Amino acid sequence: MDSSPPSDIFLLAQVPYVGASVRQVEHVLSLLRGRSGKLVDLGSGDGRIVLAAHRRGLRPAVGYELNPWLVGLARFYAWRAGCAGSVCYHRKDLWKVSLRDCHNVSVFLAPSVLPLLEGKLQAELPEGARVVSGRFPLPTWQPVAVVGEGLDRVWAYDIHSGGPAGQAAPAPSSALVPRAPDPQAG
Ligand SMILES: C[S@@+](CC[C@H](N)C(=O)[O-])C[C@H]1O[C@@H](n2cnc3c(N)ncnc32)[C@H](O)[C@@H]1O
Repeated sequence: MDSSPPSDIFLLAQVPYVGASVRQVEHVLSLLRGRSGKLVDLGSGDGRIVLAAHRRGLRPAVGYELNPWLVGLARFYAWRAGCAGSVCYHRKDLWKVSLRDCHNVSVFLAPSVLPLLEGKLQAELPEGARVVSGRFPLPTWQPVAVVGEGLDRVWAYDIHSGGPAGQAAPAPSSALVPRAPDPQAG
């Protein structure tokens, strides 16, 4: 059996490029409101989320994207916006970057890769980090908040010490969802 790592073409076919809608970007930002520190968009496309987050004060704002054309486009948009020196776009495989210093993570990826992504996020993110997932929820985590409808919906998750974030409960259409109480807690 071939045990070589998947090629970039294979990875890109698994998660094709679709830009976040204007509302989706607004929802991502609303779920990151009041937060500070590093923001990373995993699969940053043309960089719209990174640029918007940088403008809201999340710094450094970094995008990892495998498609070199999209990395070039993102850099062009950043230059056009006068932010060329302040935002960073790297042509890198998101599965190979370390997230250990990331306090804010945005993802808009295909549902097929989200189970694997949960493991990476849980293993690498520091306590207190927040993950926002656009259009598709993380399959087993419990969201702390959900905003938007349909294709624009975005889920937020907080990283806590002591293991996985728990099984997801069905989310209402557009609402803040409190974390379920921990039955082990006193
Ligand atoms: C659905 S698009 C989202 C783009 C952007 N985050 C947005 O919200 O507008 C997913 C992006 O992930 C990129 N991608 C897919 N697999 C990747 C990988 N292994 N490493 C880095 N980027 C990847 C794709 O090229 C695509 O641009």
